[in-house]
Amino acid sequence: MEQPVANIKKIAADKAMSHIQDGMILGLGTGSTAYWAIRGVGELVKQGLQVRAVATSLQSEGLAREMNIPIVSFSDIDHIDLTIDGADEVDKELNLIKGGGGALLREKIVAAATHTYIIIVDETKLVDCLGKFPLPVEVVPFGWEMTQRKLISLGCTARRRMAEDNSIFLTDNNHYIIDCFFGRIPDPGSLDEAVNNIIGVMDNGLFVNMTDFVIAGFSDGSTKVIKKG
Ligand code: A5P
Repeated sequence: MEQPVANIKKIAADKAMSHIQDGMILGLGTGSTAYWAIRGVGELVKQGLQVRAVATSLQSEGLAREMNIPIVSFSDIDHIDLTIDGADEVDKELNLIKGGGGALLREKIVAAATHTYIIIVDETKLVDCLGKFPLPVEVVPFGWEMTQRKLISLGCTARRRMAEDNSIFLTDNNHYIIDCFFGRIPDPGSLDEAVNNIIGVMDNGLFVNMTDFVIAGFSDGSTKVIKKG
């Protein structure tokens, strides 16, 4: 039976639960797919699982606390065993665009500290080439107009993100997001480097060579583990 997207996200998140083991330090992702993973971890904790977790956003931290998942900071730990997060686009090399929800900087810090990085998505996120989804770039507010001009010189059109109430969108780190429309990103590694070389850029939503495997959910209710290839 054809599943609605919300169910597909939950199915992918549920599948990821089998990778969690007692005693692990977990990274908790952000977004509507990671939401189901956090709820799943919460259920396991209720059943007696002992884990500690680092959250990638204030929103995810709030949900984790509601679910009684013990939250720690980087002063308490030196690595993360397993992180489960969502993505906006995933290519065949498992490179990602993330940051649709604005959490990319914390997400990348957590990903970089993680041993096993699992991405959970519904099938609509799987693409041949990254770039249809605008690339979110987190920038320091001071001088953002100059930073945006430098981003445009890399070959995109760009727009500072606004919140739903029409105020300027601010990340959990009090930075702006500039959404960059590249259309196609055939070489994510080079673009990642070029964007991050611009002074004023904190980081961007390209996650290159970070993913260990992807769990994709499909509309018929099935899931597939996708490895590089
Ligand atoms: C948050 O900033 C993002 O990186 C999310 O992980 C990404 O946007 C996926 O979100 P959804 O699961 O809600 O599509």
